[in-house]
Amino acid sequence: MKITGRTGILLMLADPVAHVVGSHRLNERFDAEGHDIAVSPLHVSPPDLPLVIGAIRRMQNVRGFGVTIPHKIDVLPLLDATTPRAALVGAVNFVRRDGDGRLTGDNLDGTGFVDGLAHSGITLRGRRVLQIGAGGAGRAVAFAIAEAGAAELVVHNRTRDRAASLAADVAAAHPHCRTVAGDNDPRGFDVVVNTTSMGMHAGDPLPLPTEHLGAHTDVAEIIMTPEITPLLAAAQARGCRVSLGKSMLDEQYKLLKALLRIGAAAP
Ligand SMILES: NC(=O)c1ccc[n+]([C@@H]2O[C@H](COP(=O)([O-])OP(=O)(O)OC[C@H]3O[C@@H](n4cnc5c(N)ncnc54)[C@H](OP(=O)(O)O)[C@@H]3O)[C@@H](O)[C@H]2O)c1
Repeated sequence: MKITGRTGILLMLADPVAHVVGSHRLNERFDAEGHDIAVSPLHVSPPDLPLVIGAIRRMQNVRGFGVTIPHKIDVLPLLDATTPRAALVGAVNFVRRDGDGRLTGDNLDGTGFVDGLAHSGITLRGRRVLQIGAGGAGRAVAFAIAEAGAAELVVHNRTRDRAASLAADVAAAHPHCRTVAGDNDPRGFDVVVNTTSMGMHAGDPLPLPTEHLGAHTDVAEIIMTPEITPLLAAAQARGCRVSLGKSMLDEQYKLLKALLRIGAAAP
């Protein structure tokens, strides 16, 4: 990759930052497609977020930035606009910087997840879905699952209030999808999704009792590292079709290019 003064810069704000691998995958894709864009992680502590966002407005070769833990919600009031889906989810994960410094936030997590499932041959329309996790990414994923036409969505989360509140929000936005909070037993579900961080670290407990997974149940993960989490390994061993966390980011790449107007539509 050749980075010059003509290169468009994309930043990824996180704290901690050491686990961030999305920048590498995005750089590979931009490079492979011949786009003069370079992506760099930026370690930003929460109290410094307003200062950094203000500075990015002034950085004229910055095309935009990604935000991840813990900035996805706190960045919202610092932006000029958010897309309807980001407003619905209440969190942002990518921001476009226009030439005049105006910042528009979007949330590509949910649509990226659903597109990633489709890429793995897994559909949602009319199906019963169990989602574990109601954190930042989990919120985006739940809205997108309902929007994609799932018949039923059960949300389980360690902190039960968060699951109940997410289920109520999704039910209000998508009444066709019966959305409730529940337990983590996968029996009877067509699709099971882990949106928690359980599985990132060695020794993490499994997010659900995998001995109850039937071969007909599709299992999706959003964790990118490791690529095959203990949940996915157990699901594969039981004959389930799986979707990897990296599929979600790979699909977000296409959505990100549209948000940043990179490619044919670039100004
Ligand atoms: N593939 C992609 O493109 C993509 C995109 C975004 C995020 N991710 C990954 O998704 C994961 C979650 O990210 P996030 O932004 O949603 O994080 P987050 O907002 O911090 O949410 C974390 C979730 O995990 C649960 N959790 C954490 N530790 C737990 C434990 N020991 N036992 C039970 N539940 C636990 C939390 O439950 P509580 O509510 O009870 O705390 C919450 O539901 C991370 O691994 C992240 O890297 C992947």
